[in-house]
Amino acid sequence: MTNYIPISQTYIPDGMIDLGVGTPGFDLLAHDILRRAAEACFAKNDPTFLQYGTEQGNGYFRIVLANFLSRGYGFPVDPSTLFVTNGISNALDLICAFFTHPGDTIFVEEPSYFLALRIFRDHGLRLLPIQTDENGLIIEDLEEKLVKEQPKFLYIIPTFQNPGGHTLTQDRRDQLVQLSQEHDFLIVADEVYHFLNYSDKQIKPFAAYTDLETVISLSTFSKILAPGLRLGWIQAHPSKIKPLINNGLMDSGGGLNPFTSAIVLELLEAGDLDKNITTLIATYSSRLKVMDAALRRELPQAEFETPQGGFFFWVRLPGMDGGGLREKARAFNVGFRQGALFSSQGGMPDYVRLCYTFYDEEKIEAGIRRIRQCLEVFLK
Ligand SMILES: Cc1ncc(COP(=O)(O)O)c(C=O)c1O
Repeated sequence: MTNYIPISQTYIPDGMIDLGVGTPGFDLLAHDILRRAAEACFAKNDPTFLQYGTEQGNGYFRIVLANFLSRGYGFPVDPSTLFVTNGISNALDLICAFFTHPGDTIFVEEPSYFLALRIFRDHGLRLLPIQTDENGLIIEDLEEKLVKEQPKFLYIIPTFQNPGGHTLTQDRRDQLVQLSQEHDFLIVADEVYHFLNYSDKQIKPFAAYTDLETVISLSTFSKILAPGLRLGWIQAHPSKIKPLINNGLMDSGGGLNPFTSAIVLELLEAGDLDKNITTLIATYSSRLKVMDAALRRELPQAEFETPQGGFFFWVRLPGMDGGGLREKARAFNVGFRQGALFSSQGGMPDYVRLCYTFYDEEKIEAGIRRIRQCLEVFLK
């Protein structure tokens, strides 16, 4: 450890297979695509993109992004509804800053993305859990909580949820939107995994509802190009975009990512993002199948649904303590995330989250084998 110079958030000791990380594999970061795009951008000899950027994000970039989204979503996206961010984490932080006050109540799915929970806590928000099942958020539970509570917003990962893997059904999407209007709360939909769909099923994103003032859709290039870009976008009604543009942060620093968005614009125009997504889907589907088979073979006691997209298996090991198991697993050179991290209430102790996108097939099999070996010792 003494010689460890931090250069990436993803630090994994030599020999360890950490199925806990939730990032693209190093082999799948869009290095060549980005090199070509950067060369094309600099070859233009127009330094405008090195200047402070326009507050909402480069207008031409937003047009090109809107074209990509219109094709991908299957409905027209208006560039004036897009606001360029430094990724979803940044978008969540901005939404908390501009739409909430410390002490406000928000609703989160149980379980939810643990690092978003931390952002909400940083803003002094009170987190109330809404239960989920294999079809996503349970609307009856939401309705019950709405009788007593007035949340500022509901944070939801509607598609290939992190960690649960589930996707909210269309019926529930419609019901949720209806409730947001009746009870006047915002839906903050984190659509990070929307384009990583390994099934034939078309899913209508919450971006489709952003003509309403109660729906905000967030997305990012982190999982479809590279997290190091720190580039993403918010899609929302103009009334929600306005506070994001008119503030001191924008006055002083300008738009959030003029440099990177100018480079990504090049690869969007070249059609390279579509190609990259096709490659990722092929690679991740294969890794998913291998993890699915390994889990069934090595851990017959495990309870899980096979995900249809995204990054994760959410696995219940009945009677086990995920946190304790993780500690023991270090000795077997394998890692994962324990379920309790993803619960706003510290629940779900017998779950673990396993990521299948970071390692190749061989390492995934070896990782699951190591978990089995660890369990054998643990259970003795
Ligand atoms: C559900 C979810 N939201 C947001 C993020 C982070 O997105 P970004 O890199 O755009 O901040 C992740 C990354 O793991 C995620 O799983």
